[in-house]
Amino acid sequence: MWRRVSSLSNIISVAKPSLLYQVAHGLHILKAFSTEALNPAEAGILSKTRSPTINFVLGGPGVGKGTQCTRIAETYGFTHLSVGDMLRKEISSNSEYGDMILETITKGKIVSSEVTVKLLKSAIASSETDRFLIDGFPRSEENRVAYEQIIGIEPEVVLFFECNEEEMMKRVLHRNQGRVDDNIITTKERLRVFEAYSLPVIRYYSQKGKLHKINAIGTEDEIFERVRPIFDA
Ligand code: C5P
Ligand code: MG
Repeated sequence: MWRRVSSLSNIISVAKPSLLYQVAHGLHILKAFSTEALNPAEAGILSKTRSPTINFVLGGPGVGKGTQCTRIAETYGFTHLSVGDMLRKEISSNSEYGDMILETITKGKIVSSEVTVKLLKSAIASSETDRFLIDGFPRSEENRVAYEQIIGIEPEVVLFFECNEEEMMKRVLHRNQGRVDDNIITTKERLRVFEAYSLPVIRYYSQKGKLHKINAIGTEDEIFERVRPIFDA
């Protein structure tokens, strides 16, 4: 009854018709905030003394991105930036975007890059560290295009934690973190959104030779052992 999102051949065959639309939409969004489209140096993110290292961590809902990011960050000295956590913080701090973000997360949809990339940019710019693990981003081609335009630092590594949908649903429904989106209806939509919008991004980085696919079935320790060789190298 659950579809498996398990092989790269699946990824390559998924969501092609919507891809052009997503990129076009991304460009439309960019036009809307092009006055803020500073280059990385202007944005204070890159400078003579600063050239941050960026790694992206992707995977469907409940796959364990956050758990593994915590361990990777501790072991290899990265600053862990969870975009989902950053968005939830906007809700709890009643920011101007709070209502829109809450509504989007509750529906299992993706928040506009206009907001997400702005948050990410200020988190990177205000950090005293220079090595980042960005968790849950880019989640769509729109996110990716906006990131390239506004932040523009090429990621070194893109990790993709891979797991079947039945297991992801089980993990989401058992984690008891009190999240508004950890219910069956929203999670079905999150899985659909992952397949339609995130798999094209995964395919993009696979074609660029940056993607490291990790089997996310197993214990936390087992999965972390699969990640280690990538950062030990
Ligand atoms: O990554 P996480 O599961 O914490 O994300 C929770 C929700 O936050 C997503 O389902 C989505 O609604 C929102 N989100 C987003 N754009 C991102 C990351 C998260 O809209 N890049
Ligand atoms: Mg998370």
